[in-house]
Amino acid sequence: MPAWTELALACARAARAALRLPSDASPVAVVLGSGLGAFAERLASQTAVPFESLPGFPATTVPGHRGRLVFGDLGGVPVLALQGRLHGYEGHDAATVAFPGRVLGVLGSRALVVTNAAGGVNPDFAPGDLMRIADHLNLSGRNPLLGPNEDALGARFPDLSRAYDPRLAEALETAAKETEIALRRGIYAQITGPSYETAAEVRALRLLGADAVGMSTVPEVIAAAHQGIPCCGISCITNAAAGISHTPLSHQEVVEVARRVEGTFARLLCAFIPRAAAAVPARKALA
Ligand code: HPA
Repeated sequence: MPAWTELALACARAARAALRLPSDASPVAVVLGSGLGAFAERLASQTAVPFESLPGFPATTVPGHRGRLVFGDLGGVPVLALQGRLHGYEGHDAATVAFPGRVLGVLGSRALVVTNAAGGVNPDFAPGDLMRIADHLNLSGRNPLLGPNEDALGARFPDLSRAYDPRLAEALETAAKETEIALRRGIYAQITGPSYETAAEVRALRLLGADAVGMSTVPEVIAAAHQGIPCCGISCITNAAAGISHTPLSHQEVVEVARRVEGTFARLLCAFIPRAAAAVPARKALA
């Protein structure tokens, strides 16, 4: 059995035991980005396990990322939430970055909701805006599926034309309308980081069709598409990207703005997740 599959199965078994996650739960899984981790506190009857207790999970090193996997209930819907994620700029390859998402898939998650903090490349966007990720540009030069294919997880050449599932997109749009939360939509471009972009790079990103730029998310979405897990993405626009804003960027500013909209963001997720669970069928767990 290929290495990643074996590790993901071992990790999923450890997570299932630690979280007391029933094998037929088919939860909605959420990856909570920089400064957006508080949503997990809304889950009832929750159990949690720190990343470092799970085989194959490197600890997260980024301020604003708590580094726990949480299982709980949201109005009758089982939810798995990663409070914090791994990034390529921490020195991990894309397969390692995607590993926690792969484990969520092996645990039978029916949908993967990825969230992040991002810079606004679209000049109409303002800090604090929430954006549904309609599609992405992988400008990281990396892919989590490099190397031998993990046949137990998916096909060698996965299609990404519907990586952001239209059923989940509709469910998110409906949830935003119902909660009267303004939701932008746009293209997320992933660069490697950890430096923010130059103003020239941001102009180039705009020409390429990007509306937002960040340092995460794409590896998890590619790995989810490989496993056939429907995905939905939400970016919290924390700042105008370099050159659009003329003030220097800082991670502290990113986390502060994300924390400021955390309540609105959590309200949107609370409305969206039951709809997401209803929009896509349950998946079978592999471990
Ligand atoms: N650029 C890249 N990543 C980011 C930004 C940005 O402006 N803001 C938050 N994450």
